[in-house]
Amino acid sequence: MAERFYIKGGTPLKGEVSIGGAKNSVLKLMAAALLVKGSTKIYNVPELTDVDIMLKVIAQLGAKIDYNKEEKSVVIDATELTSVTATYELVSKMRASFVVLGALVSRCKEANVAMPGGCAIGERRVDFHIKGLEALGAKIKIENGYVIAKANKLIGSDIYLDIPSVGATENIMLASVLAEGSTRIQNAAQEPEIVDLANFLNTMGADVNGAGTSEIIINGVKPEHLHSIEYTTIPDRIEAGTYMTAIIATKGKGIIRNVYPAHLTFFTNKLLKMGANIKLLDPTSMEVSCKNRLNSINFITQPYPGFPTDLQSMAMALLSTANGVGIITESLYENRFMQVPDLNRMGADIHQDRNHAIIKGVKKLSGTTLTASDLRAGASLVVAALMADGESVVEKIHHIDRGYENFESKIRLLGGKIERRVEDSQINLTEGVHNESYL
Ligand code: EPU
Repeated sequence: MAERFYIKGGTPLKGEVSIGGAKNSVLKLMAAALLVKGSTKIYNVPELTDVDIMLKVIAQLGAKIDYNKEEKSVVIDATELTSVTATYELVSKMRASFVVLGALVSRCKEANVAMPGGCAIGERRVDFHIKGLEALGAKIKIENGYVIAKANKLIGSDIYLDIPSVGATENIMLASVLAEGSTRIQNAAQEPEIVDLANFLNTMGADVNGAGTSEIIINGVKPEHLHSIEYTTIPDRIEAGTYMTAIIATKGKGIIRNVYPAHLTFFTNKLLKMGANIKLLDPTSMEVSCKNRLNSINFITQPYPGFPTDLQSMAMALLSTANGVGIITESLYENRFMQVPDLNRMGADIHQDRNHAIIKGVKKLSGTTLTASDLRAGASLVVAALMADGESVVEKIHHIDRGYENFESKIRLLGGKIERRVEDSQINLTEGVHNESYL
């Protein structure tokens, strides 16, 4: 059986949508919960397949999990850990689980974590993670596809990252919380999710300073200093940006609730330049609307606070029908233009040259059968289908379920015509698309 989205485009999205907890934050908070011999309660946990995988990884290490989907909370009791191994079976399903490496080395002084390998969007190496842990004194071997780390003790160190890698910054932060002395991460990632992790750790009794800047200093504390906490995850800025795009793409008008607008400043400015209207209603709500055809713009994806790579595909969907020519340069990943062939099949005029995409705006897109190749490319195809004439079917939507909670329900709340169907994987899609039960 396969799950697909059936979408009828052309309806302006209107109404309100509430944003859930940040996927890329909550996964790391769950790993950080492994540091404390006690219970951690995390709120604003989105219902995502990536969250389920992370909980399995943590349970595999011996922590007890109580996941309350109604309350959107999870309690992780890491009083006793029974294993230091995160298996390939789970890590290969979700790279973010590699962040348990830092937490395990910190807490248990050893870890066996499967190497995550590349993924659809790029090579995604972990060399900075490993060099960072080695700088703290861990001895690391890679054997049989596993990173095997051991440390008699970890000693604070100065670590310079060649690229402000989000995952490496997080792994080093986690590893240095219980190290002896101070660790300084230079050229650290500055994403809001890094700040959330630092706030979480500090609430737990750690001593982390400078998160949100390029230099983070972690003063090691004794294990008995850490204690049980309750903590609420920040809103998901990428989910918010996706709904902003969908509203603008369909020439609609909607309110995004439970968002921190400051986390989207760069993206919002680009949308304003294109001609969208964005109004701050209160510190956690924005009104977004668009009446006219957008203007093309150019942008380069960059680490935070630059243009987020995770919203690049969404912006490309907007540029596909904007007035003029736009150029996107993807500077973080080698292979993050996987939405291009499907957008072109919808009638877009996009030419890709290595990490540049040249988008000549066309008047309209038309619906067809589309395939989600990864999470964000998949979401951009849904946005494109919502703005296109006619009907589309999006296949392989399990990629989208990794990062968007109740995606189709939230779009339907905004008036979008979308339905999830579970059906035979061999179904004739041309027939299926004309079954209008979702309208
Ligand atoms: N890199 C290396 N060596 C390393 C680490 C990173 O070469 O040791 C390279 C990567 O190959 C990549 C670049 O540095 O080209 C940036 O990677 P980074 O480590 O910053 O990314 P990440 O931690 O693997 C997180 C998010 C991604 C998001 C990026 C950039 C999570 C779970 N994932 O990945 O989110 O694109 O930061 O902001 O936090 C998504 O949500 O769809 C997603 C892919």
